[in-house]
Amino acid sequence: ETIHQKHYLVNGELKTWQGETTEVYSTISSTEVYKPTLLGSIPDMQEVEALDALDAAVKAYGKGQGIWPTMHVKDRIECMEVFVEKMKSKRTQIVKLLMWEIGKSLPDSQKEFDRTVDYILDTIEDYKQLDRDAAKFQKHDGVYAHIKRGPLGVVLCLGPYNYPLNETFALLIPAIIMGNTTIFKPAKHGVLLITPLLEAFQSSFPKGVVNIIFGRGRAVAAPIMKTGKVDVLALIGNSKSANALQEQHPKSNRLRLVLGLEAKNPAIILPDADMELTINECIAGTLSFNGQRCTALKVVYVHEDIQKKFNERFAAAVDDLKFGNPWDDGVKLTPLPEPQKPAYIQELIDDAVSKGASILNKKGGKHFNNYIWPAVLYPVTKDMRVYQEEQFGPIIPIVPFTDIEEPLDDMAESNYGQQVSLFGKDVYALAPLIDTLVNLVCRVNLNSSCQRGPDVYPFTGRKDSAQATLSVHDALRSFSIRTFVAFKDN
Ligand code: G3H
Repeated sequence: ETIHQKHYLVNGELKTWQGETTEVYSTISSTEVYKPTLLGSIPDMQEVEALDALDAAVKAYGKGQGIWPTMHVKDRIECMEVFVEKMKSKRTQIVKLLMWEIGKSLPDSQKEFDRTVDYILDTIEDYKQLDRDAAKFQKHDGVYAHIKRGPLGVVLCLGPYNYPLNETFALLIPAIIMGNTTIFKPAKHGVLLITPLLEAFQSSFPKGVVNIIFGRGRAVAAPIMKTGKVDVLALIGNSKSANALQEQHPKSNRLRLVLGLEAKNPAIILPDADMELTINECIAGTLSFNGQRCTALKVVYVHEDIQKKFNERFAAAVDDLKFGNPWDDGVKLTPLPEPQKPAYIQELIDDAVSKGASILNKKGGKHFNNYIWPAVLYPVTKDMRVYQEEQFGPIIPIVPFTDIEEPLDDMAESNYGQQVSLFGKDVYALAPLIDTLVNLVCRVNLNSSCQRGPDVYPFTGRKDSAQATLSVHDALRSFSIRTFVAFKDN
């Protein structure tokens, strides 16, 4: 059953789109002979409608006098509670769309939905605590202060295709609850799964607080930025899009940026690492959701003493993974949502092989319809594209090392700085190394793969990997500013 989405949400109204539409396809075939499945269509909105959405958000903020930014915290929370209840009733439909639109496995799709509900509920609790803290007056040097957190204004929010619900809401929900007003454009893949929530957004919040538009970034997001009326750019995706949008803003130095961008998280495997545990964690770290995670392990450094053993076992474990449709039992590898991705992965393989790397696993690089089997490449060197680029897909570069300074040098030179995974038995002896690693990235995972969760932990990065911090706790702070009223004891 296809979804031809006609509605979009602006100024509290579900408007009907009359113009051109864009078809949405799944790379999953529903026929024996491979053919991408048509899932539906979305409005191909343009500048005029985008600016209507912006006007609605600006009006709802109302120079800080709008209903939403001035609403009592308890009432804002009530709106969010109404929303999350409505959202819960859409679980089956959204999980199904996650599988079809982006090819996420059934357990991971269910997890994405449930994690998002938990994220909203936990954000509400954290917001209550923030409000309790704000109720306390302070007094220093005869000056009383009532310090609280206030909204920033109008937020333009763009989410990624790999977590079209969870990561998008990790931006949108804290932005809304803090009293900002928002314009939200879903990602290209994973766009239809937002449509069951349009009515929930419309009926849960005052008009203009959440505006949802569809279309290409260049057609809708860029004109919004050009007006200079956006106070916060909230985006999870790539730095190219983030920079392009930021540059459109006439006073970009005034923009608050909440960005989750690329990463090239390394695994560093030391000679005494527990081999079985390391292989399992590296499989999950490199290939969960086919490697399409900013937190994925994207380069694996293996000490030469254990190189042979690691390479053999890792390559065999990759070839043992099950490929299939997202709803198949035990499936680990699934079709890729971006139709151009297999060709890109092939380019990276060809480049590495032409510069001296080998494909270690037998199935590496084999094509299945629009899918390419993960390729384990060894030895990868700095001149190869797979070393330099964030592959965001099923390809695993292995880099040999003899001295720990080699991966450390690479990390120090890298443009990214999100996380690292360190594998070694003697964690006490590793303490100085761990201290160094936390100064290069923001999270060191000991004997475990990189990941964002649990969502109460800070999620951020150094250098080009992020701006601001997300998590249940931090995101409320990223979307607000400390303000206070001061008075003297006279
Ligand atoms: O794509 C980046 C996501 O933040 C990854 O989240 O580690 O929970 O899969 P995750």
